Amino acid sequence: DEGISTFVLMDDDVRGLLPVRHLKGHKGTHGKGILVAGSKGMSGAAALAGRGALRSGIGLLQIVTPEGIAEGVDKSVIEATVWSAPGEDSLNEEAWPVILRQAEKAQAVAVGPGLSQNSQFRAVLAEILKNLSCPVVLDADALNLAGSEPSLLSLRNGRGPLILTPHPGEMARLCQCSVETIEGNRLDMAVAKAVEWEAVVVLKGAVTIIASPDGRAFFNPTGNPGLGTGGTGDVLTGSILAWLAQGVPPLEAACLGVYLHGKAADELAAEFGWSGFTAAEVADQLPKVRRTIE
Ligand code: APR
Ligand code: MG
Repeated sequence: DEGISTFVLMDDDVRGLLPVRHLKGHKGTHGKGILVAGSKGMSGAAALAGRGALRSGIGLLQIVTPEGIAEGVDKSVIEATVWSAPGEDSLNEEAWPVILRQAEKAQAVAVGPGLSQNSQFRAVLAEILKNLSCPVVLDADALNLAGSEPSLLSLRNGRGPLILTPHPGEMARLCQCSVETIEGNRLDMAVAKAVEWEAVVVLKGAVTIIASPDGRAFFNPTGNPGLGTGGTGDVLTGSILAWLAQGVPPLEAACLGVYLHGKAADELAAEFGWSGFTAAEVADQLPKVRRTIE
């Protein structure tokens, strides 16, 4: 569209976004992030997002997850601290105090992978959007819950940065239109909504678009159809959380996360082709691809 400034991300752009590691850095200086994720039957989403964050260099990762799966998540992400929050199969409205207590000491919060759509959690999302001043990433079921009418997204305006990572189906629900409308107008929709919601909108797909609330848009050239497998989106959410925790600003953290995630998949495709690599392998490839551009 004429009014929209567009850019294509390249190695040279992304290199400059990587946080600098200092010789005397420690886990405290490398950032603390809170991941609110998981429900019964979807604990893997929490684990994969956690792995995406750890493989992106987060200093401390704290996972808030429902009571019924906390032990399993604890065992599958051994590097993270796991906080069991109210809700047996999925988090309920009493999870807010647990999230608040952890988030007060964190640099970033991500909410959504595998959460399920327990409507009681909508009240918690409202508190998160209203009260937390650090950057907040919403993905998956957090988008579905926050987007249902009346949308909670406007609660965020002016309170702190917001990053949304919808796939086209989630974007269609947020915009209350069809997936065809989204897919036929990806650039216009992503930018219009980034402006409207004052959020960084990461519209995922074969060419992910990162739209800024200032009206600019960035096309991501990395990635391949091998990413079309369960859990890769969760890895991306964790990775963006980690870049935010390390002090990368919201728009840049989204660009860095999306670019490296796709490039990790491209490295895996060199070995496996466009199928058969897994979301966990994408996460584990992240440090190697970061190294190729730094
Ligand atoms: N080319 C490049 N990238 C692709 C392609 C492709 N052809 N297909 C998918 N991807 C990328 C997307 O850009 C995105 O980064 O793979 C990732 C897929 O993310 P999601 O669609 O969120 O998928 P997933 O991780 O499986 O989500 C798990 O969360 O969003 C919910 O409904 C979803 O329940 C599911 C769960
Ligand atoms: Mg997803």
